[in-house]
Amino acid sequence: MHHEVGVGPWEGALPEGDHWDPELLANGDRRNVLDEYRYWTMEAIVAELDTRRHNFHVAIENWQHDMNIGTVVRTANAFLAKEVHIIGRRRWNKRGAMVTDRYQHVRHHPTVEDFVAWAKGEGLAIIGIDIFPDSEKLETYELPQNCVFVFGQEGPGLSDEVHAAAETTLSIEQFGSTRSINAASAAGIAMHAWIRRHVFNQRVG
Ligand SMILES: C[S@@+](CC[C@H](N)C(=O)[O-])C[C@H]1O[C@@H](n2cnc3c(N)ncnc32)[C@H](O)[C@@H]1O
Repeated sequence: MHHEVGVGPWEGALPEGDHWDPELLANGDRRNVLDEYRYWTMEAIVAELDTRRHNFHVAIENWQHDMNIGTVVRTANAFLAKEVHIIGRRRWNKRGAMVTDRYQHVRHHPTVEDFVAWAKGEGLAIIGIDIFPDSEKLETYELPQNCVFVFGQEGPGLSDEVHAAAETTLSIEQFGSTRSINAASAAGIAMHAWIRRHVFNQRVG
């Protein structure tokens, strides 16, 4: 059986208020959004999300075109990251984001230096996520409340510049035969570790 996502045109008298989208009210709302946002304008949804975003940010290096960025953005939206940062090339493949980039503040930094200056100005701890010999364990590290997680690329991993600028780098313990997991999976795990620590108050170590 085919199940259509969302709702059809609004029935009855039209509601009043700036957050309602006239086009969606008229034609129906088939977006992948929560029911409470049905028929809301994109701007109204973003403004509501802005009132309750979390204190972690995510950043991903984009020197080659990395297909993981869209998935990172989508997960950042789900866990309500404050902002997403692209370091390096401005352009990235939006497909995996499934339009969630529109609900997220995505900021671009042309160089690591620009990114680091911005993070320091915001008082954010830079937490690199990668498997370096000096990495600490994500599982037991006391994650700071105000931080930005930085993820590397499929081939090269995190750059030496980010490694040097970071307060620490954290690795995710693996048990199988491969050296690393995919960057978007690593990003999901890191964001969720922050959620467990700071939303559910689950202490580690
Ligand atoms: C596929 S990895 C890069 C490969 C890596 N340089 C290596 O030595 O095999 C791409 C990105 O995913 C993340 N990543 C993958 N596996 C990880 C792990 N076990 N712990 C922490 N980060 C990981 C990191 O952000 C890394 O920069």
